[in-house]
Amino acid sequence: MGNTAEEKPQIPLLTPYQMGNFQLSHRVVLAPMTRQRSYNNVPQSHAVLYYSQRASKGGFMLSEATGVSDTAQGYPETPGIWTKEQVEGWKPIVDAVHAKGAVFFCQIWHVGRVSNTGFQPNGQAPISSTDKELTIETQPSGDVMQYSPPRRLTTEEIPQIVNDFRIAARNAIEAGKPLVIVHTNLRLFYANILANSLSSSGFDGIEVHGAHGYLIDQFLKDGVNDRTDQYGGSLENRCRFAHEIVEAVTAEIGAERVGIRLSPFADYMESGDSDPNTLGLHLAETLSRYGILYCHMVEPRMETADEKFECPHSLVPMRRAFKGTFIVASGYDREDGNKAVEEDRADLVAFGRLFLANPDLPKRFELNAPLNKYDRDTFYIPDPVVGYTDYPFLDETT
Ligand SMILES: Cc1cc2nc3c(=O)[nH]c(=O)nc-3n(C[C@H](O)[C@H](O)[C@H](O)COP(=O)(O)O)c2cc1C
Repeated sequence: MGNTAEEKPQIPLLTPYQMGNFQLSHRVVLAPMTRQRSYNNVPQSHAVLYYSQRASKGGFMLSEATGVSDTAQGYPETPGIWTKEQVEGWKPIVDAVHAKGAVFFCQIWHVGRVSNTGFQPNGQAPISSTDKELTIETQPSGDVMQYSPPRRLTTEEIPQIVNDFRIAARNAIEAGKPLVIVHTNLRLFYANILANSLSSSGFDGIEVHGAHGYLIDQFLKDGVNDRTDQYGGSLENRCRFAHEIVEAVTAEIGAERVGIRLSPFADYMESGDSDPNTLGLHLAETLSRYGILYCHMVEPRMETADEKFECPHSLVPMRRAFKGTFIVASGYDREDGNKAVEEDRADLVAFGRLFLANPDLPKRFELNAPLNKYDRDTFYIPDPVVGYTDYPFLDETT
């Protein structure tokens, strides 16, 4: 008699995968998703349920984008990881995810110019690679966002921002040993003191948010970056800021705990590049040299409410060039996620909206069960339950 487990056809997304030190039991990743329910930038106890609902043994999950400093915010009620209160707020959430046996990374970000003076300390201008202002934009929710003219960072200020990422990475992982302070800047000094006084919030690693038109992307893309110093102009110069951040967080917490998300093809927030294939390939090659755990790339396809548009570009050359784990995202469902793994175009596939609406998504994929539909209107409302923890599990719907 054959073993029934052996008789089952293999579902590529549900096969195990060794990601560095992490033994994953399946390849269905929770994509990072901003939920705007962290009042005053502090993660709330209702997030314990939200994230633990989506946790499974050996699953890999990414947190919503989490601000690295008080200048990093551009949306209401998004979490941070630069104060003691925020770090403490994350702990029960991370603990709950770990109790279910999942691996949890914190996505750390800075919005750069995707902000306005209302989000900034002392009403100052948002910072960016440029002083070019974003034009008014209507959000998917229908809300109109008003952006303030950004202030171009001086060359001398850039190490401070790199350091904010380093401290955020450390806060996500552990308090660690005291730092040697070589910088005389007071802000840097106090940030280091604070980092040393914090205890671990216990994430397993961090994902640097280098995608979607936020600060790092504002340096990477030639449609935004108009600098004339060593952070602008050539491809190498535009990638310098991203490289310095990766180098800093890698030195701080170890390359085996660091991933990065990139979207070379996207032009969200007016951040297009004239040669995204070259940019993406260059990043995949150069970031490999740091030995980081993974590269998480957003597919070059567009999706509207009704239709998916494939485009002629492909992530495959970047997949081949990158030495670590390769994660793909955007517009995937069970069928083409399975295909991407089967054809070795990706090691893991991140799911956003489907995972938001289906807390037991890996289980549903396993059973090929019907999926709940997501409700776009409740993506970003501040309610601690509605559109957040009230999507039914399979056994509740059947
Ligand atoms: C509500 C919502 C919030 C999002 N927030 C983030 C975020 O914080 N960081 C990020 O990198 N991407 C964010 N994204 C993009 C998703 O991670 C994902 O790339 C996108 O939804 C496309 O994948 P999907 O087709 O599987 O939903 C967000 C998407 C949604 C729907």
